[in-house]
Parts: sequence; structure tokens; C-alpha cells
Amino acid sequence: MPSSSHRLWVNATLFDGLDAAAEPMAVAVKDGRIAWLKPMSALSEADRAGFELIDAEGRLLTPGLVDCHTHLVYGGNRAGEFEARLEGKSYEEIARAGGGILSTVRATRAASEDELYAAARPRLEALMADGVTTVEIKSGYGLDVDNELKMLRVARRLGRELKVRVVTTLLGAHALPPEYKDDADGYIELVCRRMIPAAAAEGLADAVDVFCENIAFSVAQCERVYAAAKAHGLAIKGHTEQLSNLGGSAAAARAGALSVDHVEYLDETGVKALAEAGTVATLLPGAFYILRETKVPPIALLRRHGVPMALATDANPGTSPIFSLRLMLNMACTLFRLTPVEALRGVTAQGARALGLSHECGRIVPGMAADLCLWETDNYAELAYSLGLPRLVQRIVAGEPA
Ligand code: NIG
Ligand code: FE
Repeated sequence: MPSSSHRLWVNATLFDGLDAAAEPMAVAVKDGRIAWLKPMSALSEADRAGFELIDAEGRLLTPGLVDCHTHLVYGGNRAGEFEARLEGKSYEEIARAGGGILSTVRATRAASEDELYAAARPRLEALMADGVTTVEIKSGYGLDVDNELKMLRVARRLGRELKVRVVTTLLGAHALPPEYKDDADGYIELVCRRMIPAAAAEGLADAVDVFCENIAFSVAQCERVYAAAKAHGLAIKGHTEQLSNLGGSAAAARAGALSVDHVEYLDETGVKALAEAGTVATLLPGAFYILRETKVPPIALLRRHGVPMALATDANPGTSPIFSLRLMLNMACTLFRLTPVEALRGVTAQGARALGLSHECGRIVPGMAADLCLWETDNYAELAYSLGLPRLVQRIVAGEPA
């Protein structure tokens, strides 16, 4: 009798998270983990024994997709701001006038935990329908201890109630809340002394992020946040070089950041710092597109220095109201000239690396979680090339169709 938790996908066209296999493959899953892989040409009758067989019929099998940067828990929306931008106002102007992130802060503070959960759930379900099996969710629209923790609790609940792995990030240093107007250092003190310890003590955050920018926090302030995060055993990440070049990426890399994200304005010194530290550069073409940014991230330099590139939606109400990771594959190729292989690595192996999960997901190799996607195509490039198709035939989480 085949065990219900032992499944064997046969005749799969494989993209393992880094590369495409040269011949049709069999992928064996036991108890939620990848057990072994074999070319079909080497598969014996004995190999099949004890497995429930699933014939992929030549279709593409990839790791479940990893969206390593989202802000999908929030109150309200910013459709009005979208209209204002179309009338000529810039993102920075809107932010300085108390709109932007702060308008979402008002709506998020006013929402109950249940209301935030109800609003976030369909956003996450949209990502899941697109093949996402691991997602990172940031706080950052509460900007005080209670509201930041409230957002993180909603993120954790999404991970418990839906079939998706959720990684949470405390982004207390996202913007200056009105109570601390003109006292950014005082607010950073609150983040370091109260928010980070509370989030760590309650097990609500896996990592800590910052927004290092002229309209947000300085490099020195971000470094204080990194030190506090590390003192509490949390990983670190940064929103850096999105709108200008402050050197925030290099500072994050020096502090041991898993990833720096956006990086349109990153220069070669910054790229070298990432290479040296093994920090991932996470590209967010959705925000680039929505803000009609013209400065493209330094892709050639990142390639030349061997910096791993992840790719994510940045799903948020302001700069990237986008809930499709597959759209990012296409945008990364079209707008940033990534190759389809680089883009796919960005939402699998490198996305997992940006979350410190290289040992757990993002690749189809023995020992990893059996999070997989089976697509109605035999060509991995089609995932980046086409919008709306190919269809996701099967989404598999820990070995179970989900
Ligand atoms: O990743 N850069 C800062 N934070 C978000 C935008 C958040 C917002 O506008 O609400 C980003 O683009
Ligand atoms: Fe972001």
C-alpha cells in the first residue's frame, strides 16, 4: 500500500530553484520533505514501490514560490493617492504632507486585529493562487509598540490559518510617527528599547527591517536598530537606496543583513559590500513601476560581483499595490533585463536565502520542505514571458496538494 505521505512525481520537467534539469525527472517526497530525485531514465520499478504516483506528464515542476518582501497587513487603501500622483504630485511630496505611509498608519491603528486579518487574508490568498508557498510579512504601519505587535500577531495568525509559511519582520523604523515629530532619535530609542525587545519576547518577529532614506531614517539611526535586533537574536534587513544613495546598503551588509531591498540607487562600493558580506539584493520592480522610477538597479554590477538577486512583490498600499509574484517575474525581465532564469531563482532559491531559509525551502533538493508548484507548461521561461498563463496545475505544501 502506498503511504499517503509518500508521493512520487514522475515525468517532471524540473527547475530546481537554481537551474533547469536536462532530462525528465522523478521527485520523491516522504513525510513532507524531498526524499530524492532521479532522472526518469534511471528510475526502476523498485524505486516506485510504496509511493502514490503522480504523473506530471512533462509539465514544469518548480519549488513553491517565495515572496520575500511584503507589507500585506494594513488598514485602508491609497487609491486617492494614486490619483494625486497622476495629477502630478510625487511620492515624496505626498509623504512630507502627512500622506503616504502615515495615512496607512492612521487606518491601521484604527483597525482591530480581526479587521486587519480579514483585509489581509484575500491579499495573501491572491499570492498563494499565484504559487506562493512562503511569504514574508512586515509590520511598519503601527509605529507604536501596541500597533506594531498587533500587525505581527495578524501576520502570525495568517501563517497558522492558511497553507503558507509566513516569516514576520518588525519594521518599526518605517516612518516617523506624529507623536515623535522632530524627534527621530527619540523614536529610534523606542524601537530599540521597547519594540524590538517586546516583539522578540513574544516570538512575534523573525527579523527587523528599517527604511533608510531621506524621508525616513539616517544610516546612523538604522545602525542602532540593527544593533538592538542582533542583541535580541533577530535577523536584519533594510529598505535601502530606494530613492537616493545614502550608503544604507553597505551599512546593512556590514551589520550582517540577510538582504537589502529596492537598491535602485546602489553604487559599486555598495555592491562590493554586499558581495563581501553575502547579503542578498532584493529587487522590487512593482514599486519601481508604480512610482515610474527611471533609475534601474545596477544589475550588471550585481552580476559582476556575484551578488545573489531575489525578487519580491513589496505588496503594500502605496508603492506596490500588487498581489502577483508572477507579474514580478515578467517586470524584472522587461524593466530590469533579468534573464528568466535569474528571475525564477529570485522567487525560489534566492528569495529563500533573503529570508535565511536556504536550508528549508526554495530548492528541490533532498532534505528540503516539499513545497512545489506544477505548471501547465514545459518551459520555465514561459513563467516570466507570459502574463495570466500558464496555469498553476498543482500547489503542494509540505508534500500535500494545497
Ligand atoms: O517598500 N519604502 C518604504 N516602504 C514601502 C512603501 C510603503 C508605503 O508607501 O506604504 C516600500 O516601498
Ligand atoms: Fe517594502
